[in-house]
Amino acid sequence: MRRKRTAILISGRGSNMDALIAAARTPDFPAEIVLVASNRPDAPGLARAKAAGFAVAAVDHKIYAGREEFERSLHMVLETHRVELVCLAGFMRLFTPWFIGQWRGRLLNIHPALLPAYRGLHTHERALADGVKIHGCTVHFVVPEMDEGPIVAQAAVPVLDDDTPESLGARVLAQEHVIYPAALRLAASDALRIEGNRVLGARMDSDSALVAPAII
Ligand code: GRF
Repeated sequence: MRRKRTAILISGRGSNMDALIAAARTPDFPAEIVLVASNRPDAPGLARAKAAGFAVAAVDHKIYAGREEFERSLHMVLETHRVELVCLAGFMRLFTPWFIGQWRGRLLNIHPALLPAYRGLHTHERALADGVKIHGCTVHFVVPEMDEGPIVAQAAVPVLDDDTPESLGARVLAQEHVIYPAALRLAASDALRIEGNRVLGARMDSDSALVAPAII
């Protein structure tokens, strides 16, 4: 089986990047990480990827006059590396409909909440303030609307009495590191069908992370 040429886009720490890279090292994984790119040249994850021997690119959004100019450069870099799938992993730029049009159905994002709840930032603080008992994370295909788009995988975590945004966020992050590789595996193996807002074909094997990723 030919492995899908996959890029990871980051803006910072890159712990989800690490999880995707680790998963892609397993021999039967259907995606190969061919590029790590960042809009922030000083992103810690970018230095780590470079040190690990991956092709890296910094496309600094600040030097471009507008969003689309930045995206055209980024797109060119992705094309140069013959990228087929893109994983946003803590990539803190919103894309224009132009970029999303180029990558529709091939662009995944991870969000630290159970979408469609808590789109946007500060999800853990907001979940605690609302008193919800279950929180979590979502991997979805990207559409022009922020934090919307067909959902590939979700994991739930319980909210505990003594949780702080940090402790809750850490528990959610641990699940992000489980479901993102699982979702990439599905997307890269062409197992998925997008119908409207639904992703079909994400079959849940008994040993899959998608069955019971967390204890509720
Ligand atoms: C994660 O919580 C992810 O869900 C959000 O940004 C954070 C990135 O963390 N989109 P990392 O850079 O992957 O460690």
